[in-house]
Amino acid sequence: MTTTSKQDQMAALIRQATVIPVLTIEKLEHAVPLAKALVAGGVKTLEVTLRTAVAIDAAKAIMAEVPDAIVGIGTILNGDDLARAEALGVKFGISPGATPELLKAAAASKLPFAPGIATASELMQALAHGLDVVKFFPAEQAGGIKALRALAGPFPNVRVCPTGGIGENNAATWLAEPNVLAVGGSWLCPTAEIRSGNWDGITAICARTMKSLKAA
Ligand code: 3PG
Repeated sequence: MTTTSKQDQMAALIRQATVIPVLTIEKLEHAVPLAKALVAGGVKTLEVTLRTAVAIDAAKAIMAEVPDAIVGIGTILNGDDLARAEALGVKFGISPGATPELLKAAAASKLPFAPGIATASELMQALAHGLDVVKFFPAEQAGGIKALRALAGPFPNVRVCPTGGIGENNAATWLAEPNVLAVGGSWLCPTAEIRSGNWDGITAICARTMKSLKAA
């Protein structure tokens, strides 16, 4: 696979998602009911973050038991994490940042991957490795839509998934930006709802969000 087709695949994956929930799964038994709740609410493309001890097993369980879910791995911090994600057979990888070591590994990998960027220099490092689909993180805290628009000046062809500080109140505004493919965030699966097993509540948040975004 060429770098271009890998990047186009990443862009297509993100674009069809519209929203990408950032999943922090503390207990393995939460993985499948959580994924089913999200999918039931119309949210199918899931970022399982490598922030907990059970993350890899959680991603495996979701892939095995929730066939409609499109599973990716997030919080990829280095080449080893990227290799673990690729070995799992997930569809994509996402990172909050972009170290030289990770960018080199991502350029060599076949896994569709979006590094995290918050500045022009970080974006230039990603582009130097052929990676033009990026996570803008932390989106609101790093300057919000004004910062994204400023970056679009020198980098008009970069495609972005903003994440960080995005929720039901501002998702549509971000999605209206021409270089935004989808938005990510944890608002679709709040920690309290996961811990209490409020799966219907999570489905309701997702369904409400998707309905309002379709109407926007
Ligand atoms: C991430 O890892 O992408 C962020 O923690 C998500 O940010 P949010 O919690 O503000 O949505």
